[in-house]
Amino acid sequence: MAGRPLVVVTRDIPQVGLDILAPVCDLRVWPQEMPPTPDELAGLLNGAEAALTLLDDRIDGDVLDAHPELRIVSNFAVGYDNINVADATARGVAVCNTPGVLTETTAEFAFALLMATARRVGEAQQYIRDGKWHTWGPKVLLGQNVTGATLGIVGFGRIGQAMAKMASGFDMKVLVPDTTSNVDEARAMGATLVPMDTLLAESDFVSLHVALNDDTYQLFGAAEFEKMKPSAILVNAARGRVVDTDALVTALETGQILAAGLDVSDPEPLPADHPLANMVNCTIAPHIASATVQTRDAMASIAATNIVRFLQGESPSFIVNPEVLDNR
Ligand code: DGY
Repeated sequence: MAGRPLVVVTRDIPQVGLDILAPVCDLRVWPQEMPPTPDELAGLLNGAEAALTLLDDRIDGDVLDAHPELRIVSNFAVGYDNINVADATARGVAVCNTPGVLTETTAEFAFALLMATARRVGEAQQYIRDGKWHTWGPKVLLGQNVTGATLGIVGFGRIGQAMAKMASGFDMKVLVPDTTSNVDEARAMGATLVPMDTLLAESDFVSLHVALNDDTYQLFGAAEFEKMKPSAILVNAARGRVVDTDALVTALETGQILAAGLDVSDPEPLPADHPLANMVNCTIAPHIASATVQTRDAMASIAATNIVRFLQGESPSFIVNPEVLDNR
């Protein structure tokens, strides 16, 4: 009788995911908080038929060539820019992700960043901690209105659409680039389709929800910030590398835009002494937009189930390159 397949899990994920895998495979779980280095990852993957990976585990042709027994990489994320999908497809390796379950959770956090940045929540807390609260001041910590403001949503997929739904509760006018492939969804939600330059010029808030790929790498840089209002706020809960960090720092320092609310950055992790971590007009979080108990459990469950279904000869529920299933 053939032995049970070995599945590598590259971090200590919520138990529900391990409980799904344990009955059908042998598990090798990376026990440390820090991700494995490329060398450690190479050792960890030895003999594995499946890997449940996180967004900072880089999987490319070299890694796959060194582990020809690996047949599926299931990412614990909706994004999969850490995996070279073309390399995986060329080698018949399935790539899976966890869409859907983190849509609202991520949009909620993007909206929380939008609100916190507009209303200067972080600065207000620091103001008290610094002992500056001596009286009620008519001009203290003035922020920007959210209700009725204009929100530009760049990336109108699942999360962008959830953001638009939340914005409707605040009577916001939503602008979407007219290049979106989701024209019908945008119209159905009452969004206005406009050229990107119009979106940049008219939005009080610009929120980024694109996947990171060659087309979106540093989509926002000096030229985009120049076109935005000096009172505008940038929100990024997508990927840090969608924004040119140096250009963003300059835009925030020079007042080209008012402020930024960031869940993601380039680099990640962001060093504590990085300008973005220390500017009063930047609200920043350590890539936690999907971090709720319920959503991380759901992500673990989907990432694990993708593997179990694949190993049992079924189609994983969420596969990025389904064409590999035709040839197995
Ligand atoms: C993702 O899923 O891509 C997020 O960035 C982490 O939840």
